[in-house]
Amino acid sequence: IHGSLMSVHVGQCGNQLAQSFWKSLCDEHGIDERGQPIHDMDPTDNKEMFFYQADDNHYIPRAILIDLEPRVINGMMQHKDFGHLFNQDNIYLSTHGGGAGNNWASGYHQASEVYEEIMDKIVREAENEDVMEGFLFTHSISGGTGSGMGSMLLEKMADHFDKKVIQTYSVFANQDDGAGDVVVHPYNSILSMQRLIEFPTHTVVLDNSALHRLASGKFRTETPTFDHINSLVARIMSTTTAPYRFNSLMIPSIRHLNIAPFSPLHFLQSGFSPVVDPNTTFTRKTSVADIVRYLLKPSSMMVSTANRAKPDDCVIAAYLMLQGQIDPMDLHRLESSTDVSGLILNNSTSIAPLFEMLMGKFDKLRSKKAFLDRFEKEASFDLAMMDEAKMAVEDLVEHYKSIKKMDYITKGI
Ligand code: GTP
Ligand code: MG
Repeated sequence: IHGSLMSVHVGQCGNQLAQSFWKSLCDEHGIDERGQPIHDMDPTDNKEMFFYQADDNHYIPRAILIDLEPRVINGMMQHKDFGHLFNQDNIYLSTHGGGAGNNWASGYHQASEVYEEIMDKIVREAENEDVMEGFLFTHSISGGTGSGMGSMLLEKMADHFDKKVIQTYSVFANQDDGAGDVVVHPYNSILSMQRLIEFPTHTVVLDNSALHRLASGKFRTETPTFDHINSLVARIMSTTTAPYRFNSLMIPSIRHLNIAPFSPLHFLQSGFSPVVDPNTTFTRKTSVADIVRYLLKPSSMMVSTANRAKPDDCVIAAYLMLQGQIDPMDLHRLESSTDVSGLILNNSTSIAPLFEMLMGKFDKLRSKKAFLDRFEKEASFDLAMMDEAKMAVEDLVEHYKSIKKMDYITKGI
């Protein structure tokens, strides 16, 4: 029996990522927009990892779509490609449709009133599956729904599905001054971080500033759209899951991807190469050595602070995957040119500066008491929650510092 994975998408960003991700999966598995298979069965194609078959044999994604405002999900349902793909029972939209107004406390509070209904959907979907191995979870942490409601759902999922893998793809705000991102994103992000430290197995950190920069180069435009940016994220998500979807012997299941041996240091940076337009060919003639050299450069990471890495930063664990026409026995001929592409998930201490920067921005707002009233007026919120979250992030950063020391293994933090 093959295992399976389920995806959970929360808020605008989470659901826009769902569109890009499921579009890639349909393409790769030869499934059309109505879930009909369009290719002959390839024996290595394990569609059941992410899809199940309805009575009439069409494929349905194991996906849950959740939002507090209807615009994005309704748009998907009216979309010519997607309107018929998803199971309507797996959609949760709030009845008032007003969103959470870029306010973590509002998303969190609203979640406390409706999480049972949402968890019922997730649990029912999980019960459809023979061997459910875990979840992919997409959201942004700087708005209200993906961050606040996302925080509570992660807590409930970790509690209910004890021992299942939870891998989040968490989008951080564009940190560049003048990017005009959510003003209170530092509050929302720090509050979410406390939960990302506690609940997931892995968090793939996706920083909109770095994504924006990479997308500008790749699509040759000053102003990449979220569609552009999300296609980069979909590439990371589909490539990381490719071994399970195509029956790799090396990493047959998400449970075998353990690159976070020291909990909670499970924040991963990601990158891939070559960065080519997805509408052109998937691979390009290059060499394994070039790919690996590129992937080990901080500027290839989808995290903007990676270039602040210091000489004493260290890789805790990493996963480097090569796809293409390469015979593993030939890997020593690294320099020869071939069709190959690569992906890295890097668990490195060089992620810490991103969290330090967020804390700096948080402190700036917090010390001026800026916008605190918005949060305080939400039921079940008090300022102590903010300060507790900040302490959790501080501890995390300290932990990243101590693991750089030689005696970490024997002494601990
Ligand atoms: P509310 O609308 O406040 O209820 O919450 P939400 O979760 O729907 O908010 P949203 O996902 O829009 O979060 C805002 C943050 O996400 C901002 O930092 C945006 O820049 C970012 N964002 C929104 N949509 C996308 C997207 O499709 N892709 C990427 N990469 N980032 C996005
Ligand atoms: Mg929204």
